[in-house]
Amino acid sequence: MTWNERHARLPPQPADRWLTSLGPLLGSTLPGPVLDVACGQGRNALWVAGLQRVDAPSIVGVDASEVAVSRARAEGARLRLRVRFEVRDVSSQGLPQGDWGAILVFHFLDRSLFPALQSALAPGGLLAYKTHLRHPLRGAAARPRLPAFLLDSGELLAAFPALRILEYRESAAPGHALSTLLAWRPATQSR
Ligand SMILES: C[S@@+](CC[C@H](N)C(=O)[O-])C[C@H]1O[C@@H](n2cnc3c(N)ncnc32)[C@H](O)[C@@H]1O
Repeated sequence: MTWNERHARLPPQPADRWLTSLGPLLGSTLPGPVLDVACGQGRNALWVAGLQRVDAPSIVGVDASEVAVSRARAEGARLRLRVRFEVRDVSSQGLPQGDWGAILVFHFLDRSLFPALQSALAPGGLLAYKTHLRHPLRGAAARPRLPAFLLDSGELLAAFPALRILEYRESAAPGHALSTLLAWRPATQSR
């Protein structure tokens, strides 16, 4: 099934719970706009947009699925939020240009983007990354299955050498395993 087909069937999802626990950080002054990479129907970008003050930096969500983007746009308009969604294949087109104050990546993995993710952050910018982890507890039925979409233990910790780690966690339970990273770009770091 394609992502467009999946998004046509998928009901709107609530924002990720770990992300919502970062509300005080994301709602404070960020050094630039917020980018949600592979944002799907925009659950996380919409939630961050709901936190922001009127004069706050803008929020941009990008996803390769036209269906996901059109549903995200409709929800942003319904909620009257200042958020922009664009159709973009980040694997072939790269990240949108910007000095991002925060980058969110949830349930998406393209390892070739790791260097771009850290260099696209403005000094002081935050990276919040959470996706699936290879782990025996997941079991054979868990999705995704392809190694390309599963992190190895410790992989996110080593993936962004220019960033400082604020939080790193691996969790596993029958059926799923996840890796979670919160990191920031020091002001003095060269790109
Ligand atoms: C599991 S969903 C996660 C969506 C969202 N981040 C969330 O947590 O709700 C993965 C998303 O990645 C998108 N995607 C897959 N490959 C992509 C690519 N190369 N560029 C941009 N988006 C992509 C899919 O369309 C899908 O919406």
